[in-house]
Amino acid sequence: MDAPPVLLSEAEIAKRVKSLAEQIDQTYADAGSLVLIGVLKGSFIFLADLARNLTIPHRIEFIAVESYGAKESDVADPVRLLMDVRHAIDDEHVLLVEDIVDTGHTLAYLKRLFTAHDPASLRTCSLLHKPERTEQDVALDYLGFTIPDVWVVGYGLDYAERYRTLPYIGELPPEMR
Ligand code: PRP
Repeated sequence: MDAPPVLLSEAEIAKRVKSLAEQIDQTYADAGSLVLIGVLKGSFIFLADLARNLTIPHRIEFIAVESYGAKESDVADPVRLLMDVRHAIDDEHVLLVEDIVDTGHTLAYLKRLFTAHDPASLRTCSLLHKPERTEQDVALDYLGFTIPDVWVVGYGLDYAERYRTLPYIGELPPEMR
């Protein structure tokens, strides 16, 4: 398998993840506890690294969502929950962790969904954001990198389930798709 060209190196990612964890540590220093909710599958590596850089007490949950295809994009909500959190998050401090915000539909849906659970607080974190593609504006509390509208893979992100375990974020050129 050819290696896609590097957009963000392992070292750049590691430095940024450490810095995000420091910001999160500060925000929740007096909170007592924090629930990190990773959105499968793409966030699994980012969440693992972010969580291991935190010094504050925290627990981990995962959820899975599915986006409808373009043909069904007229439906009221283009996102559907496939797997919910294992333990209730009512009255908890919650941080949603995404690998990428593209159109913004997934994170907007998840914010609505979890706001309805009455958490003590709800914030959002994404490693990547593609503002050129964003249709639904979601304010990110923590953002790793703003990237151009290119196809990115690696560090959890896939193309047809490939490249997820590439250690860096690569830009997948059209000839590799
Ligand atoms: C990606 C990513 C986000 C979503 C963002 O998931 O992990 O959940 O798309 O896109 P949006 O801002 O346009 O809603 P994907 O559907 O690729 O699934 P995966 O994480 O399981 O690979």
